[in-house]
Amino acid sequence: MINRIIAAFQRPEDGWDPIRPQYAAAYAREHGEEADETLVDALEAWIGGFAGKHVLDLGSGPGQYAVAFARRGALVTCHDISRSYLQIAREKAQASCVADRMRFSIGYMDDALCLAPGPWDLVFNRVCWYYAFDDRSFAELIYRLIAPGGYGYIDTHNASFRREDLSLSSAVRTWMNSHLGLKIGHPHPPRGRIEQLLKRHPFKRLDADYSSPGNDRIRLEKPEGAST
Ligand SMILES: C[S@@+](CC[C@H](N)C(=O)[O-])C[C@H]1O[C@@H](n2cnc3c(N)ncnc32)[C@H](O)[C@@H]1O
Repeated sequence: MINRIIAAFQRPEDGWDPIRPQYAAAYAREHGEEADETLVDALEAWIGGFAGKHVLDLGSGPGQYAVAFARRGALVTCHDISRSYLQIAREKAQASCVADRMRFSIGYMDDALCLAPGPWDLVFNRVCWYYAFDDRSFAELIYRLIAPGGYGYIDTHNASFRREDLSLSSAVRTWMNSHLGLKIGHPHPPRGRIEQLLKRHPFKRLDADYSSPGNDRIRLEKPEGAST
């Protein structure tokens, strides 16, 4: 709720960008040159191929995954709050000759049902879950964005990630989110919360990977008959 109120005064469609162009460029150089092809291979096998699939990269950043999916034949929409990142993703799409298979949408992830409603064969959300306004409503939103018979993939840092480096304010806000469900700013969710929240909805298959202590990685398959 508090995050939603603050967002009412910070509108990306009016030119507000929380990411400085230099920061976006540095992130793109360090993390966004290429996607992890092992992950892309695994997703491809899991969803039965990318060709012709409609994919939403929610919080797409420099677009390395969106471009990798488009290279394999998917029709991909990059949705991000940052004009700087979307511009980098656009340039990457052009350089990779997949611009005709990509679309770009600016706005809050939480507004994706209005701005990029789909429904989508795959909703991909990597290292940006915690920027959502609220964990519970964001899990529901991701579920609703997925088409019946479609898939969701979430990889997020959890509350254990670099816990020792948190400022007092971040530590308090992480505790409030974990124990009171009150989210202010962008605290990482407690381990297991996303799995629990998604399990409130019908699913055909849900795999949770907790092999990395600081990350929760969830794969969800929505049943054919489920409502959006
Ligand atoms: C750490 S980057 C991750 C980018 C990409 N998913 C990746 O795997 O490299 C976080 C991304 O989330 C975007 N972001 C942050 N807050 C957002 C929000 N409220 N709505 C949409 N995108 C947001 C940032 O602009 C940035 O592109």
